[in-house]
Amino acid sequence: MEDFYGRNIDYMRVSITDRCNLRCRYCMPEDIQLNQMSEILTFEEIEEICQAAADIGIKKLKVTGGEPLVRLGCPELIGKLKKIPGIEQVTLTTNGILLKQYLPELVENGVDAINVSLDSLDREQYASLSGKDRLEDVLEGIHAAAACNIPLKINSVLIPGYNDGSWEQLVELAAGNPLDVRFIEMMPIGYGKKYTAVDNGTLLSQLQAKYPDMQSDSKKHGNGPAVYYRIPGFQGSIGFISAVHGRFCGSCNRIRLTSQGKCKPCLCYDESVDLRQLLRGGQEETGPETRRILLQEGLKKAVSMKPAQHCFEALSRITEVKQMVQIGG
Ligand code: 5AD
Ligand code: SF4
Repeated sequence: MEDFYGRNIDYMRVSITDRCNLRCRYCMPEDIQLNQMSEILTFEEIEEICQAAADIGIKKLKVTGGEPLVRLGCPELIGKLKKIPGIEQVTLTTNGILLKQYLPELVENGVDAINVSLDSLDREQYASLSGKDRLEDVLEGIHAAAACNIPLKINSVLIPGYNDGSWEQLVELAAGNPLDVRFIEMMPIGYGKKYTAVDNGTLLSQLQAKYPDMQSDSKKHGNGPAVYYRIPGFQGSIGFISAVHGRFCGSCNRIRLTSQGKCKPCLCYDESVDLRQLLRGGQEETGPETRRILLQEGLKKAVSMKPAQHCFEALSRITEVKQMVQIGG
């Protein structure tokens, strides 16, 4: 469906839990008040919302968290979402800790692609950034998924003073493996506000200095706003998601569903449409057809509320107060 600014909204990120088995310092460095299970959408409710989303033109879904694989039944949910008429692609974003364990079920359920968050290849640095000494598990997950030929992307967030040099090792992952390594600028949402972002422009210059033959890559790699480059001899590409310094709002194609059932038009603002309220609003007699129409209307409203752009450069205008783990990134 087209929004007010003529953008085609065909992608929804679906957060299925606000729980996580890591404590990344810019996301959930300490335990936060989690939702009760009763506040979280059931898988049936998520399926219903995704059906209505397909009705209004959503074609691609990304299952996120928190960490989606900590919610039991995540692969089966992916299988169900894949069967919704109109949904062409269901992908997963994970921190990779449980990836190896769930890979067979993910493959069986037809996951189309997997993004793994990984900010450092240095064991100590990884532990200091993510709160857990689990680098080995993530790498095993990545290699197992690569061996299954699942399209893979590595997402890295660089923080000055913590891991801003880790790009040198991270890009090498794309040398020997057919996967894309992408650098996401830190967004000033939740704990992310405490840090300044590494400017992807600066990072690109550093990469160009090291790899002078690097060339821009116009092939379409996924659903997002990443800009890609190829390094001769590398199997995968290097991507830049310049969330703060590159303003890609003009081509934004997404809405977000939080685990509590709020549909968010933009990461930057706290406006949302409460779809859980529509589902549990007390009209028990509401049949599936009526609910579907209510959800379609709610989703259309969220799309119509999409602002022209974020305001990450003006901290005082950011109205989103939730943590990233509660939104789904
Ligand atoms: N800015 C940018 N990316 C973030 N993530 C979490 N918090 C932020 C932030 N403030 C990333 C994680 C993960 C993805 C789901 O979101 O690193 O890759
Ligand atoms: Fe968990 Fe991902 Fe947040 Fe790290 S960034 S705490 S892995 S949800």
